[in-house]
Amino acid sequence: MKNIEISKILTQGEQFEGKSVVVSGWVRTARDSKNMAFIALNDGSSLTHLQLVIDKSTYTSELSKFLKVGVSLTATGVVVKALNNNGYELNVTDLELLGDCPQDYPLQKKYHTMEFLRTIPHFRVRTNTFNAMLRVRSKLAFAIHQFFQENDYTYVHTPIITGSDCEGAGEIFHVTTRDYNSAKECKSEEEYIAGDFFKATAGLTVSGQLEGEVAALAMGKIYTFGPTFRAEMSYTPRHAAEFWQIEPEVAFAKLPDIIEIAEAMIKYITKKVLEQCGPELDFFEKNFEAGLKAKLQNVVDSDFQILDYSDAIEILKKVPEGTFEFPVEWGLDLQSEHERYITEQVFKKPVFVTNYPKDIKAFYMKQNPDGKTVAATDLLVPGIGEIIGCSEREADYDKLLEAIQKRGMKESDYKFYMDLRKYGSVPHSGFGLGFERMLMYVTGIQNIRDVQLYARTTGDLMK
Ligand code: 4AD
Ligand code: MG
Repeated sequence: MKNIEISKILTQGEQFEGKSVVVSGWVRTARDSKNMAFIALNDGSSLTHLQLVIDKSTYTSELSKFLKVGVSLTATGVVVKALNNNGYELNVTDLELLGDCPQDYPLQKKYHTMEFLRTIPHFRVRTNTFNAMLRVRSKLAFAIHQFFQENDYTYVHTPIITGSDCEGAGEIFHVTTRDYNSAKECKSEEEYIAGDFFKATAGLTVSGQLEGEVAALAMGKIYTFGPTFRAEMSYTPRHAAEFWQIEPEVAFAKLPDIIEIAEAMIKYITKKVLEQCGPELDFFEKNFEAGLKAKLQNVVDSDFQILDYSDAIEILKKVPEGTFEFPVEWGLDLQSEHERYITEQVFKKPVFVTNYPKDIKAFYMKQNPDGKTVAATDLLVPGIGEIIGCSEREADYDKLLEAIQKRGMKESDYKFYMDLRKYGSVPHSGFGLGFERMLMYVTGIQNIRDVQLYARTTGDLMK
């Protein structure tokens, strides 16, 4: 007989009541008493376990080998209404051991800290937290595709290995096939590079934006959804070395247009999670963030705030001295504490901060007529800070060239990008949503290391 998923038995129990079914899974807990034994079985399909009820007078064969946390087994039995709740359970007629689980299994029935779970990424996925997180992650990813597909965007795959640094922040992981010893034999950097795989310096992409612009200036509306990499040395709960970004790019769109798109997307995907991840959100509300569902409903229902950077500075300057660790001054970047103050204390909802000083932002952003600021915005949300980096792109050849030169960037790496301004340039805008940050926001999980199957952060290559 074929396996039935536990989630189906629990949610569509009436369909199975009185029938014999086969289920397989891992034992979460087991309890033995004089006449009966009970096993909570989980197969990953649901946060709730299926209770296996074993009548010891009819089932006697070597029961103890099944009553251990972590063993995997197949059970055959009849689905019946549970006595103590409205759910369903299984009256076992047969048990088959799939895999034993010795006593030193690290996931015993007790509370484990998130820090401890990070040391066992291959087992932490078997906990309720990771079960729920991965399910929300999957639904969220699909909702993002749905939003863009329903709005006629083309999904493009931009290269992972690139020869340019989109953000110009020097956080590139180099891609090379040369080893340390071969470098010692080279007389110059040129000789070293000439002998390398691409005969050029190559790196893992920090953002698909530049190639996304290439696609948008042919296809009109595109989005990417893929992994990006940054050699961020900062050891914060919001920065990972490998994270996923959603990057739409829209030809003919100006800053207000792209802000509208970003807001519509955030609302759409938040609504989908509310609709589709009920049990998971209940779990996160109970264990991670009180008021989580009301917060998400507020995102769907409220208009996001739009706040000029200069006004943000005014607000922050009025805050009593000593509140912030970092200085507040026009021209300085907003630190995480400032971002959180604005979105958590002042507006209590998502806030687009617009028109940042041009010197603290990337080279590709459209320079405003004031000569001081750029048509860029960051979307800040309570609890996290920045989740989206967004801008209208500089479409003027000369202004862009000047920005590249001023930053001392290597012009030849950006020839293709300049060409987009030389041949049929049009206004266009785009943004990057950090997928893990969005996932932290919708689950209330506070560390980016815990919203990925395997986290990559400085000094820690989870294995
Ligand atoms: O603000 P960022 O650096 O913008 C870009 O990369 C643009 N090229 C995007 C675009 O316009 N197409 O990054 C975008 C978002 C951030 O707002 C943040 O949510 C996330 O990516 N992000 C990170 N997430 C996790 N770990 C990191 N180290 C991150 N760096 C950025
Ligand atoms: Mg940014």
